[in-house]
This record gives sequence, C-alpha cells and structure tokens, in this order.
Amino acid sequence: MTESSVACVILAAGKGTRMKSDLPKVLHPLAGRSMIGHVLDAVATLAPARVVVVVGPGMEDVTAAVAPVPTVIQTRQRGTADAVRAAMPVLSGFAGDVLVLYGDTPLVTADTLARMVAARRAATDPAVVVLGMRPSDPGAYGRLIVTDGTLDRIVEYLDATPDERAETLCNAGLMAFDGRRLPELLDQIGNANQKQEYYLTDVVEIARSRGYPCSVVEAPVDEVLGVNARTELAEAEHLMQQRLRRAAMNNGATLTDPASVFFSTDTRLGRDVTVGPGVVFAPGVTVGDRVEIRAFCHLEQVRVADGAVIGPFARLRPGTLVGPGAHIGNFVEVKNADIAAGAKVNHLTYIGDAVIGAKANIGAGTITCNYDGFAKHKTEIGAGAFIGSNASLVAPVKIGDGAIVGAGSVVTLDVEADALAVARGRQQAFPGWAARFRKHKR
Ligand code: UD1
Ligand code: MG
Repeated sequence: MTESSVACVILAAGKGTRMKSDLPKVLHPLAGRSMIGHVLDAVATLAPARVVVVVGPGMEDVTAAVAPVPTVIQTRQRGTADAVRAAMPVLSGFAGDVLVLYGDTPLVTADTLARMVAARRAATDPAVVVLGMRPSDPGAYGRLIVTDGTLDRIVEYLDATPDERAETLCNAGLMAFDGRRLPELLDQIGNANQKQEYYLTDVVEIARSRGYPCSVVEAPVDEVLGVNARTELAEAEHLMQQRLRRAAMNNGATLTDPASVFFSTDTRLGRDVTVGPGVVFAPGVTVGDRVEIRAFCHLEQVRVADGAVIGPFARLRPGTLVGPGAHIGNFVEVKNADIAAGAKVNHLTYIGDAVIGAKANIGAGTITCNYDGFAKHKTEIGAGAFIGSNASLVAPVKIGDGAIVGAGSVVTLDVEADALAVARGRQQAFPGWAARFRKHKR
C-alpha cells in the first residue's frame, strides 16, 4: 500500500423514510443515474485503492447496483460512526487516506474530493479534514467550531447551545482521515448524546484531545445538498441539470432554451449540435456533429449520426440508429430501427424493428406493423425505396431497393427491387351519383 493511496467509504445504510418509497433512497435517479452512482463516479476520479458501500439489512438491490464495488451490512443504524466501523474490516491494513462520503449527497464534485485529499496531506498532517459549507439556512446541520483557525469540534444541532447554533459554518458530512489514526479515533466514540447514536462527528474532539490537528475544506452549498425527501430530490435534479446544460454549451452545442432541455449524465453531443426547447435526453444517447434536434423531442438509447435532423415532436426509442443526414420529422416514433444515410421519415409515422436503406423516402402515416400480438417481426426497406403515404407494412416483409409502394397499401408480401406494389381497393367512379344523392336528401 503506497502512502498516497485513497480508500473511500460511502454510507448508505439509512432507511430514507422521508422519501416514502419502496426503492432505497440512494437508488433514486438524478439525470438518469442513481444517486449512489453519481457518488461512485466522483470517487472513481481519485482512482481509489479500495471502495466500500455501507448498506442496511435487506438492501440487496443496492448491493447489486454498486457491484463490483463491495458492500458491508451495518446491522442496526446506530449512527454514522457505527456505519464507518462496519466498513473497517475492508480497510484492514490500509495506511493511506480514508474518505467518508454519503450516498445521499450526490452532487459532490471530483474537484472537491481532490481538495479534501490535498488538505489531508498538508504539512500540518491533520488527522481529520471535514467538508464545511455555509448554507443560507443552517437548519439542523452540525456546526463546525473553529478556534484560531483550527477545527476544534463538531457539535450536532440537537446538542448545541444557542451560541453554537448561531455558527454559520456547517458540517456537510464528508470527511477525510489519516487511515493510520482512524481506528484508534473510532474506538473512542461513544453515544452519550441526545439521539444516543455513535456520531462520526465526535472524531474531531477526540483527535484534538490527542493533540492531532483537524482542518476544514469549504464547498459550495449546491455540491453538498443532502437528499432526504422528494422535494430535495427535485432540487438536486435541478442543480444537476444546470451543470449538464452548462457542460453541453461549453462543449459546443447550442441550446435555444437551456432551462427546458433535460440531459442524462451519459448524453454525448458532437460539435455544433442545435437543441430546441423541450427536448429530453433519456439515458444512452449519442449525437454526432451538426445535428439539429428541433423542439419537443424525446430520445432514449439512440445514436444519431452527423448532420441528421430530428423533430420537432419526434420520439426516438431504444435501439434506433439514425444515419448521417437522415431526417426524422414531426410525430414520428422510431424503435429498434436502423435508418441509413439520407433517408427521410418526415411525418406521422411508426417505424419499429426495421431497417431502412439509404435515401429511402417513407411517406406520411406509414406504419410498420411489427407485432402480431405474440412476437415482433422485422421490416426491411431497401435503398432509394419510396413508400407512399398511409401504407401499412405487415412484418415480416421486405421492400426491395428502389421499389415504390402505392399510397394506402397494406403490404403483406415482399416487393421486388424497382417494382411497384399497390395493395388497396381499386377506385370506382359513379358519374352524377353525388348530385342525385343530395337531391334525394333534400
Ligand atoms: C450528519 C452529520 C451532521 C451533518 C449532516 C450533513 C453526524 C452525526 N451528523 O447528520 O453533522 O451536518 O450529516 O448532511 O454525522 N448512515 C448510515 N448508518 C447510520 C446512520 C447514518 O449509513 O447508522 C448514513 C445515512 O444513510 C446517510 C449518512 O450516513 O447517508 C448521514 O446520516 P444522517 O442520518 O442523514 O445524518 P444527519 O443527521 O443528516
Ligand atoms: Mg442527513
């Protein structure tokens, strides 16, 4: 183990009762990724030697979600120090720096974590570095008591005197420890407080009593928002979206109305992409250069190649590939389909489980009838084919390259390349019929 290595302990054993949810709190998503996933992403930037997540009994879905990161079970929630104790077997023999984070504090950035580690390694060699913040309403947060520039102790709100409650520097919860001194400090923590819990925050006073220095790193409040209820989840989502919108614009995308565009953490946009108002990027979307995504589109697990034009009002569902320069227009739904370069699907259409060749033109109202009530079937449309408006293509079916399908056709048989297929009732004409009809009705 090298002196410079870092281990991370993420506390997530809390029940999250205030979420009023069947889903463990830390699995609630922000920008398409679970809260604990965000914490793990931030932690990964430190290239930690060890990571462990502390969960409560019955939280198997958290264990599954964080794998291969190991979890330990804290049998009873007896406080944050007790939770860190539960993780100690995983840290045995570890002599580097130990960072303790909360699974429900998902907005913390890699930069802040790096600053905490750097502060831990400062020449003063603090045993504990605490992340501080100055919220506009300090509420029930623990207060950091600093004397002559050094952190003396943390006092929990319930145990604080009126003077201590007036302190505005609060405990954000995250801490960095010298791994060699952590076990002896943890051993000393008792539960003689209002809640009769083992408070990790007591570690500071214990360290100071042994003559070890402790210090504070301050973080912007919007990085350390803790999510305990759905209202805070919405607030965290808002902050996360603001970050993602700013990053998209900084990377060369134009967002006409940034506040109305929703990203996932894994959304990838190329250069000179334009995104109109009201666009939602669900997880798994990659967009090439010079793509225009017009107003009110929804995309999920989709790849859009350079120069394509999407929307307005298009829905691209999982498994869709839109080729270079292809157009997907208004009120078009596409699912699990490969749409080749320059193809056009411009109006009121459903394309599902299909392959559409280069430069094919799919007329308004075309439906690929992919589902027979039991299984999904494929529609293959060749390059340069022309599908007339309001055609129903009953899959499995193939339309050859350059073929034309007459408007209103219900196509159940394959169509050869360059053929015309018309599959609809033949038109009949009855001269004068309409005039006679009206006269009779009068
Ligand atoms: C804690 C801090 C407080 C700080 C605040 C910041 C302590 C004693 N107090 O208070 O100073 O201002 O965070 O948000 O640390 N957890 C476990 N097992 C437990 C108890 C908690 O895993 O037995 C986990 C929770 O799931 C959560 C985190 O630890 O992720 C913090 O616990 P929580 O009960 O929210 O602490 P606070 O009372 O908010
Ligand atoms: Mg809390």
